Amino acid sequence: MPGTEQPAARSVGQQAVPAAGTRAADVAQSAPGVGTGAGGAAAPMLEIEDLHCGHGELEVVHGLGLTVAAGQTTALVGANGAGKTTTLMAVAGHVRVHRGAIRIGGEAVAALSPMERVARGLAWVPEGRRLFGDLTVRDNLVVGGYSRPAARQRENLGRVVELFPRVGERLNQRAGSLSGGEQQMVAIGRALMAEPRLLLVDELSLGLMPKAVGEFYAAMNTLRAQGLAILLVEQNTQHAVRAADTVVVLESGQAVWQGSGEAARQDTALIESYLGLSPDEPTENDE
Ligand SMILES: Nc1ncnc2c1ncn2[C@@H]1O[C@H](COP(=O)(O)OP(=O)(O)OP(=O)(O)O)[C@@H](O)[C@H]1O
Ligand SMILES: [Mg+2]
Repeated sequence: MPGTEQPAARSVGQQAVPAAGTRAADVAQSAPGVGTGAGGAAAPMLEIEDLHCGHGELEVVHGLGLTVAAGQTTALVGANGAGKTTTLMAVAGHVRVHRGAIRIGGEAVAALSPMERVARGLAWVPEGRRLFGDLTVRDNLVVGGYSRPAARQRENLGRVVELFPRVGERLNQRAGSLSGGEQQMVAIGRALMAEPRLLLVDELSLGLMPKAVGEFYAAMNTLRAQGLAILLVEQNTQHAVRAADTVVVLESGQAVWQGSGEAARQDTALIESYLGLSPDEPTENDE
């Protein structure tokens, strides 16, 4: 059971998430975001209930339920093709939901457009980063929160640079010329420019050098400590499970295991069958 306590949520906002290969001009934006969720602190930032979704008529997720609380990380892990990205796309509003409920801050969003969900505080770091390669780093970041007032954009940019100082050194560089790790920093930074309260991250560490992975997990921990709710999808199961408050293991579109990060890290059978972890290894949450 994923029962978790929730500190107060941080702030809200909106985000531009380009589809693969889209141009900046294609990115729409929505009205300013809302405050704390309906029901206040009691509602998890994200609730997924009996979710059935897929691509067109093809259903690939069959009855998934999970929650992500403010100030917590839920890791959704599972083999290639299990339906992890499809789940994130359903939350973000990019695939059809056949059945079930998705609530952000206590509000049902299934009938809302992707941009309306962004206005509720959702931000998405898509698989593959999807930056606008011909734009500068600064412009990619601005796209992420361009409907915020200029002063807020400057503040938010300052926060991104504080989190990833390397981004600050590359602001005038073409995003397409960055290394993979730097692009991932910009992709996360772009999401943060929208002042989200729910962050969906698809494959945080994919393609990163092993020694860079820790830096990204440290950034996730910082954001979580600031009150963000994080739904993290990873092929790198070891890192994700070590960093997570709640773990959901997805297999063929269904949750085959769900519980606290601590329980996941101690469940030998789970570790052997799904996670490939050593129970004795230190975790991201350990000092
Ligand atoms: N656009 C699409 N059209 C049709 N089927 C798709 C589409 N995208 C994904 N699928 C199918 O949906 C299933 C789940 O894919 P999904 O990308 O959600 O898996 P995943 O768990 O994210 O895998 P990976 O770890 O490889 O990223 C797969 O069988 C995949 O072939
Ligand atoms: Mg995927």
